[in-house]
Amino acid sequence: MARNADQWGDPPKVPQDHYVSAQVYSNPELFAEEQEKIFRKVWRFACHESEVAAVGDYRTFTWAGMPLVVIRGTDEKIRCFINSCSHRSSLVARGPSGNAKTLTCFFHLWQYDTQGHCISMTRDLGYKEVGPCKEDLGLREVRTAERLGMVFINLDDNAQSFDDYVGNAFALIEEVMGSVPIEVFHYHETQMRANWKQWHETNMEDYHNWGHVVNRVTGMQAKGHFERKWILYGNGHGTIEPMKIEYVRYKGWEDRQQKNLPGLGPGELRAVDLFPNTTIIVRATCIRIDTSTPIAPGQTLLEYRGLGIKGEPAAERAMRVRDHNQFWGPFGRNLVEDVVFVEAVEECNRNGAAQFSVLARREEMRAQDDGLMRHFHNEWSRRMGRPASNPANWLQAAE
Ligand SMILES: [Fe+2]
Repeated sequence: MARNADQWGDPPKVPQDHYVSAQVYSNPELFAEEQEKIFRKVWRFACHESEVAAVGDYRTFTWAGMPLVVIRGTDEKIRCFINSCSHRSSLVARGPSGNAKTLTCFFHLWQYDTQGHCISMTRDLGYKEVGPCKEDLGLREVRTAERLGMVFINLDDNAQSFDDYVGNAFALIEEVMGSVPIEVFHYHETQMRANWKQWHETNMEDYHNWGHVVNRVTGMQAKGHFERKWILYGNGHGTIEPMKIEYVRYKGWEDRQQKNLPGLGPGELRAVDLFPNTTIIVRATCIRIDTSTPIAPGQTLLEYRGLGIKGEPAAERAMRVRDHNQFWGPFGRNLVEDVVFVEAVEECNRNGAAQFSVLARREEMRAQDDGLMRHFHNEWSRRMGRPASNPANWLQAAE
């Protein structure tokens, strides 16, 4: 029977960590709190090392409102800095990427070397009388860590090490990404009208495979599809046991070749979800890294990278790019659908048409169990110091 307003406000009759309030996706105060308690404290995927392959190559991005630049130094080491001049705060690297011998602020032309030292203050005689001196005005360095060619950063100097943070979460992709040189061959980004968590949730649940036309025909038909188990790692990360995609069942994809990446069987798919916002998906021949950047409660930047084997013959690269684009290019057959799904959710959350999101599926952690989403929201609740199921108390408590 349909519910009246009172009934509609009652939480679902399931354990408290088996649902979350719609407020966690839409409330601006909680969004501001996430910036401080989550985004500025976690390790965040920045780029793949192949995107800054040569000395002086840099890549810029914004995280938790902070403009950042990742650059490969003259000593080959990859570093990250807050992308702001020590003088009057302007950006020292503009545009998404480039190559620079020095980072030069375009406002007053102060210069920094690739290791972040301030090496030139324009017409420095003006600072002789009272200072300051350039030795004290290097860029602010941000912690970096590199694993399997992926560069991660952390704005918090006191956060746990990356190794402790990630734990064993890369076990399933260690051989795939670590035994041959890998490079990025595709990048695109888009903005969606949805909360960043909704995007990550689509990567952390298999139940919505029912919504994907191509998945209904291919992966869901494969033997054992529903029996695969979720594996949870510490700090909110997780994965699911590999599955086999039967591409041959989808018209037009019968000729997909089998130049699989190392360690993978035919049609094998593996996916690793890192808290809070990154998913690494391996689809037999190619790799994709998804990263989201929260902009506002209902606005998220998505970055998509496609990766293949570095230096491979042109024909093999073309095959890999084609396989990648079948699914993951801007006009791919899958995951673009996910943007449509989550924008439909957002339309309800944004206007108060939704009260709760139910994460109560229990199938002994088999594929269509919501266990990884619950694991994610437990970590979110731990970091925020508030249960995701009950933001009303939480906001009152904060007052
Ligand atoms: Fe999906």
